[in-house]
Formats: sequence, C-alpha cells, structure tokens
Amino acid sequence: MSRKVLITRVIPSIAYDLLTQAGFDVRVWKSETPMTQQQLIDETKKVNALLPLGANKLNKKFFSECGHLDVIAQFAVGYDNIDVAEATRLNIPVGNTPEVLSEATADIAFGLMIAVSRKMFFHHKMIERGEWKQFEPLKNLGVQLTGKTLGIFGLGRIGMVMAQRCQGAYNMKIIYHSRSRNLEAEKLFKATWVSFGDLLEQSDVLSVHSVLSEETQGLFNKSVFTKMKQSAIFINTSRGGVHNEEDLIEALQTGVIWGAGLDVTNPEPMLSNNPLLNMPNAAVLPHIGSATEEARTGMARIAAENIIELYKTGKMIYCVNPEVLKDNWRQKFEN
Ligand code: DGY
Repeated sequence: MSRKVLITRVIPSIAYDLLTQAGFDVRVWKSETPMTQQQLIDETKKVNALLPLGANKLNKKFFSECGHLDVIAQFAVGYDNIDVAEATRLNIPVGNTPEVLSEATADIAFGLMIAVSRKMFFHHKMIERGEWKQFEPLKNLGVQLTGKTLGIFGLGRIGMVMAQRCQGAYNMKIIYHSRSRNLEAEKLFKATWVSFGDLLEQSDVLSVHSVLSEETQGLFNKSVFTKMKQSAIFINTSRGGVHNEEDLIEALQTGVIWGAGLDVTNPEPMLSNNPLLNMPNAAVLPHIGSATEEARTGMARIAAENIIELYKTGKMIYCVNPEVLKDNWRQKFEN
C-alpha cells in the first residue's frame, strides 16, 4: 500500500510530481484558507508523512494526537512553528529547506535597507496622495550607505549573502554577532565577530538573520533599541517575534533609532492601521523573503526530496534533528 503524504497548502507542483512519481499517495489541502489546528490534526491522522508550512502550528497538542508520523518535511527554512523537542522525543525527523531561498531573502533585506535609507515607500505614497509639488532641497533627505557598518545578528546562509551584497555594492564594513564564529565570513568579507553590545553600538545598519527561539524571542526591545546608534537602520527578515513591535514603533517615533525595514512583523499579518506603515523612515513587506519562482520551486523540491530520501535511504537532505536518524530510522520500515 502506498504511503500517504499531506501537503497543507497548494505549493509549486514539483513537490506533488516528485512524490507521486516516487509512489506516494499525495493529498493536498487545496483551500485558499489555511487549515485550522483541528483540520490539521484530523487530516494528519490519515497520513504517514506531513509537508507543512510555517503557518501550521505543530505544538504539543498536535504531537499528542499525531505522534504516529514517520516524518515532517517543512516547506520553509524556519521551523519555529514546530515543537522540535517533542518531535525528537517521538522519534519523528523534521526537515527544512535552507540554501534555495538565501539569495531571495537576502535580496529583500538588501532592498529594505536601501528603501529605508532613502524613504522610498514614503515618497511613493506621497506621490499617490498628490503631494509631489516641487523639487525640495531640504525635505525628506535620506542617508548614504557607502562605507557604513553592517551589523548582522545571526550570520548563517542568508546573512552571508546579505554581507556579500552590502560589501560589493557599498563597501560596507561587516561585523556580526552569532552563537558561533563564522570563519568563512571572516575570510571572505573580513567580517568581525563582536559582542551583542558592540553590535548594537557600532552598526549603522543592523540586519537580523537569526532563528526565533527562546533566546531571541522579543530580544530587540526598548532597552536594546536604546543602545543602538540614533542614526541606525534596523532590518528584520527572519521572524517578527525577534523584535518587540510596540517598542520598535516607539523607538522610531522618538528618534531613538533612525529607520526600520521589516519583511516579518509581529503579529502577522500586520494590521493596515499599524503606524509603521505611515512612517517616513519605515518600509514593511508582507513576509515575501522567499517569494521568487526559483526559491519557492527549490523549497518544494527539497521538501519532497526530504521525504523521498528518508524512506529510500534513511537520510534527509536537510534535517533539523538528525539525532533521530542515528539509530537507523529506516529499520522501522524494513520488516
Ligand atoms: C522560511 O522559509 O522560513 C520563510 O520565512 C517562509 O516561511
């Protein structure tokens, strides 16, 4: 009997095609409306493997009812929606889709940085309101990025591309704060590891590329913004939960920092009356970091291959809890 896979939204068809060709019985949640938690649980109970999106909450309640799953292959690089400790306890490997979206996501961080530095979204809205009257020698000036210092919080794959973009385009000095040193970045970009305090004090642009975890939840709050330069631009393309949005709004309104560009908000979706949407020095996008044809197709391919490879070889292309695979996970299916 074929193994059953549930894909929790319509994603690029390559995932469906690869899984079907590999002999899986693939079910896709076709509604435009994302599954409710109960629908997710009910539908997952009927399958062996799950291919979820970041919007699906795979929490303790989910695992208490769906502990039978062979594998979870998430359509995202981030997996903060999944209680990985619980999955690991239940021996369920969890896959994700890094690499293929690094360029696309770094482009959004880079684009937001430029947009904020020149107040682009604000100027666009000004024209829409019919307020472009004449050349203004002194109004709404931006800041130049050349030679400035880029501070990266969480220097992984996406941060590396951001560093490359910023150094290539603006000869920016790269400093970073991560749990571990990134020797490749130190070699390639002369990047310097600094303490969190120094990152705040020295960055002209501070770009967040970390995961959302207990340590990073709400980390960028009032007291942290206060330690940044008054001229600093804060960019977040990782997860909205890493910043405290009320504190960010206040920091911008009171001139504690200069500007902010967000592709992720807290909560998501952002409400249309959020003050950030009307601030000259802010630019907000609706979580589109990975939204290119290439990245989304790559994510769908890897998510499907994670499932196919696991049943075939006992390994995944990208697994976030590889300890589960150590005891030869494949043996489970060989009897
Ligand atoms: C990711 O892959 O984590 C993106 O943020 C989309 O969820």
